[in-house]
Amino acid sequence: MAQDFEVRRLGPSFFAEVVGIDCSRGLEAADFERLKAAHLEHGVLVLRNQMLSPEQHIAFSRRFGSLLVHSMSQFNLAGHPEILLVSNDKHPDGRPVGIADAGRYWHTDMSYRSEPALGSMLYARAIPSEGGDTSFCDMTAAYEALEPAMQQRLEGLRAVHYFSARWEREARQGLRPPQTQEERDRNPPVSHPMVRTHPETGRRALYAGGFTIGIEGMPDAEAVELLDWVERWATQSRFVHRHAWRLHDVVFWDNRCAMHLASNYPETMRRHMHRTTIAGDAPYCRPQPAEAAVSA
Ligand code: SIN
Repeated sequence: MAQDFEVRRLGPSFFAEVVGIDCSRGLEAADFERLKAAHLEHGVLVLRNQMLSPEQHIAFSRRFGSLLVHSMSQFNLAGHPEILLVSNDKHPDGRPVGIADAGRYWHTDMSYRSEPALGSMLYARAIPSEGGDTSFCDMTAAYEALEPAMQQRLEGLRAVHYFSARWEREARQGLRPPQTQEERDRNPPVSHPMVRTHPETGRRALYAGGFTIGIEGMPDAEAVELLDWVERWATQSRFVHRHAWRLHDVVFWDNRCAMHLASNYPETMRRHMHRTTIAGDAPYCRPQPAEAAVSA
């Protein structure tokens, strides 16, 4: 049966709330197409009041593409490796159940792969009563607001993304277990254009963030300065929407045009989220069609 759901914009230029949808039921084709169109239009959707088993969460996510399994497999849900646990729960022997501090820096998921994630669906199964928000920034609006000279400069550049550089930074602070050599080898450095064309909307967006370690052909100091500048530009408040979680929210973001950042919360409070990650394509930057000549 068709579902009568509403989509309401919450953010400055993106991010919408969907109410009245039940993702545990198979969506009819027309509902699915409407939801998909809303996702492409708004970039990030929060689907309220979802009651999903792991199987239902996986089945709903698969409507949008095949699922990626996170390479730090000890943090995937037992029996359902498609679900990454973002959680501060502990096993009885004290080992962390999930990645408690996942995403405490601006990033776009799995940008360190040659084919990064299309989207991610994070489902709130336990949330703290304070803190733990997730902020999102609109990389399309951030690109479009750049001066043409800066757009042109970034269009020709490829940033290098490397998972282990980020993981090891956290491991050195004692926040995560160090990686084994085998885990490091799973994700060697890759490069991607700093401006990418969205394969479905055709719109251009900035593409960089937390896993970048440099820019091809550019001295390190200059690259770090430019990467920092791009991050500061893209995360200005005019491009950001901060999401305060409600229990049983599912937030579905498009990693091709949005970055996100998780916030701290008191360690004494529980936060337990299930994340699926949808496979995407290799980023590319399509040349803009030449402007039509204006005849006098
Ligand atoms: C993530 O980066 O996938 C986690 C975001 C969050 O926990 O809010």
